[in-house]
Amino acid sequence: MSATLLFFNLISLSICPSLSASVVEDLNNLLPPPDFNTTISNNCLREPSLRYCNYSSIDLLEIFKSTIVAAHLCNESKNPNCVESFPKIDLQSSPRIAPLYLSFSFFWKYCPLTILSIDLSNNSIEGPFPLEILNCTQIHALDLSHNQLTGDLPIESFTSLTNLTLLNLSYNHFSESKISDSHFFARFNSSNFLHSGLLPDHKGFRIKAVILLVCFPILVILIVACWGWLCFCRPDILPSVFQQRHKFTPTMLKTATSGFSEKNLVGKSRGVEIYKGVLTDGTEVRIEIYTEKISMEQRRKFVKECKVLVQLRHRNLVRVMGWCNRGRLRAIITEWMDGENIEMWLSGSPPWKHRLKVLKGVVDGMRYLQEQWPEIGYDLRTSGVLLSQERGPLISRFKVGEQNGSSRKTYRFGVFLLEIITNRRPQEEFEKGETGFIEWVSTHYPGNTQKVIDERIKKTGTMYEQATEGIELALMCTDLTLGHQPSLTQISNKLKAYESSLVSSSPNNKKSHRERGESHKL
Ligand SMILES: *[C@@H]1O[C@H](CO)[C@@H](O)[C@H](O)[C@H]1NC(C)=O
Ligand SMILES: *[C@@H]1O[C@H](CO)[C@@H](O)[C@H](O)[C@H]1NC(C)=O
Ligand SMILES: *[C@@H]1O[C@H](CO)[C@@H](O)[C@H](O)[C@H]1NC(C)=O
Ligand SMILES: *[C@@H]1O[C@H](CO)[C@@H](O)[C@H](O)[C@H]1NC(C)=O
Ligand SMILES: *[C@@H]1O[C@H](CO)[C@@H](O)[C@H](O)[C@H]1NC(C)=O
Ligand SMILES: *[C@@H]1O[C@H](CO)[C@@H](O)[C@H](O)[C@H]1NC(C)=O
Ligand SMILES: *[C@@H]1O[C@H](CO)[C@@H](O)[C@H](O)[C@H]1NC(C)=O
Ligand SMILES: *[C@@H]1O[C@H](CO)[C@@H](O)[C@H](O)[C@H]1NC(C)=O
Repeated sequence: MSATLLFFNLISLSICPSLSASVVEDLNNLLPPPDFNTTISNNCLREPSLRYCNYSSIDLLEIFKSTIVAAHLCNESKNPNCVESFPKIDLQSSPRIAPLYLSFSFFWKYCPLTILSIDLSNNSIEGPFPLEILNCTQIHALDLSHNQLTGDLPIESFTSLTNLTLLNLSYNHFSESKISDSHFFARFNSSNFLHSGLLPDHKGFRIKAVILLVCFPILVILIVACWGWLCFCRPDILPSVFQQRHKFTPTMLKTATSGFSEKNLVGKSRGVEIYKGVLTDGTEVRIEIYTEKISMEQRRKFVKECKVLVQLRHRNLVRVMGWCNRGRLRAIITEWMDGENIEMWLSGSPPWKHRLKVLKGVVDGMRYLQEQWPEIGYDLRTSGVLLSQERGPLISRFKVGEQNGSSRKTYRFGVFLLEIITNRRPQEEFEKGETGFIEWVSTHYPGNTQKVIDERIKKTGTMYEQATEGIELALMCTDLTLGHQPSLTQISNKLKAYESSLVSSSPNNKKSHRERGESHKL
C-alpha cells in the first residue's frame, strides 16, 4: 500500500462520514479517532518521507486538522479519484473560498506529497505572496495569475521548488524585481509574468515613449510659441536681458492704456491721438499715435528718426522712451509730464526772474541740440514747451531731418522770447500772426516799450531794463538779415548776465539769496 493511499485511507476512515459540513465546522467539531496515534506511527514506519514524520514532536491534532482540510480541498478540486490520489489543488475562480484555504497554514506545513499542481488563479487574492504555498516543494505547476498580489516576490524561497516547470504569476501588482538575475527564473520567460509588475512593462514603456515623443515636441512648440508671443507682443514682461529697449508693441500699448480707452485719451487732432499710459513697471508715459496712413518708405524713415530721438539726453528735453511700428499702429512714446505748458503758465503772470529761468533752460536745451544733434528740429512754441517742477522747461515735438537751419531756430526763439516778455499770443491776437506780432513790437521799440512789456512786470528798476533789453535781443533774433542774429552762446551769456545782475542789484542781499534759492528750485 502506497503512502498516499495510506494517507487518504486515513481521511476516508476518520472523516468521510460527516464531511458534508463546511471545513470550518469540521475543524471545530471533529476529533481524532482513538487509534490516530497508531495510524500515524504506522504510516511513518512504512513511509518516512511523509512530511509530518520529520518533525521532532508530532502534533497529532494539527496533523488531524490538516487531513480534514485535505479532504475538503480534494472535494473542491472535483477530483474523481480523490481518495486514491490528490494530485491537484484547483481553486481557480473561487474567490470566496480560496483565501480561506490559504489561511490554513497547518495544511500547507504538512502539504501532501501527492499534490503536483496548485491553481489559485482568478481569485482576487490580496496582499503579499502567500509563502505557505512554497511548503509544497514538490509541485510541478503553480498558477497565481489574475490576483491582486503586491509587494516583492520572495525570489530566494523559490529555489527549493526544483521540479517547478509551469509557473504563472501574470496579472498581479508585484513590485518590479530582478527575476532575470535569478538562476531559478532563468527557465521561465516573460509569458509567465505578463502584467505581473515584476518585469519592466514594455507596453507601459511604449506608452510612456509615445507620450514623451508626442508631448515633448508639443511642449517645446508651446514654449516656443509662448516665448514668441512674449517677444512679439509683451517684451515688457520678459526679464530685462531679453527686452529690446525703446521698442513697444501694440499689445504693450494696449495694456498700458487699458485697451486705448476713452478715459486715457487726453488729446486728439487730425492724424494724432494722444493717450496717457502706465507701463508694467509703473512709469507713466505719453503715447502719441499717428493714424495717418504712410508708405513703407516713410515708415522706415519714421523708425530711423525714432532711433535718433531715443538717444537725446538733456534735462530740458522731453525724454523719448521709444516707438511702436507694427501693423497699422505707429506711435511715439515719451515720458509723461503732469505740469502745464509755458502758454498756460504765462497766463498766471509769473515773476520776471522765473521767466528768465525758463528762458535759460530753453536755451540750454537748444544749445545741446545744436551741438550734438543739429539735424533735429523742434517746435519752439509756448504751447509746445512743457514745464516740469524739477527740471524746468522741457522742449518737445522733435523732428528729425529738419531742413530749417539754425537761423530759423534762432528766429523761433526770438518769437518765444517776445511772447515771454509781452505775454501775448501772436496767432490769436494778431491778424498777420507772428509777423504782425513782431511788427507790432518793433513799432513800439525803443520808444514805447511799456506798451508791449507785460504789465505785471514793474515799469521801473532792473527787471524792466532787462525786459527792454530782452526785446532788443528778441528783435535781433527775428531779424533774418545775414549776420544780424546772435548765436545761442551769446544769448545764453546775456541771460546769465541778467540773472546775476538781478541778484546783485537786489536792495536786500539776504532776501535775494532766498529768492535765488527759490528760483533754482523752479
Ligand atoms: C463535495 O463537493 C460537492 C460539490 O462540488 C458537494 O455537493 C459535496 O457535498 C461535497 N462532498 C463532501 C463530502 O463534502
Ligand atoms: C498516543 O495517545 C496517547 C493517549 O491515547 C497519548 O498519551 C500519547 O502521547 C500519544 N502518543 C503520541 C506519539 O502522540
Ligand atoms: C525526512 O527525514 C528523512 C530522514 O530523517 C529524509 O530521508 C526525508 O527526505 C525527509 N523528508 C522530508 C519531506 O523532508
Ligand atoms: C475569473 O472568474 C470570473 C468569475 O468569478 C469569470 O467570469 C472570469 O472569466 C474569470 N477570468 C479568467 C481569466 O479566468
Ligand atoms: C513552510 O513555510 C514556512 C514559511 O515559508 C517555513 O518557515 C517552513 O520552514 C516551511 N516548512 C517546510 C517543512 O518546508
Ligand atoms: C522532483 O522529482 C524527482 C523525480 O520525480 C524526485 O525525485 C524529487 O524528489 C522531486 N523533488 C522535490 C523537491 O520534490
Ligand atoms: C516561453 O517559453 C515557452 C516554452 O517554455 C515557449 O513556448 C514560448 O514561446 C516562450 N515565449 C516567449 C515569449 O519567449
Ligand atoms: C498565464 O496566464 C495568462 C492569463 O491567464 C495567460 O495569458 C498566459 O499565457 C499564461 N502564461 C503561461 C506561461 O501559461
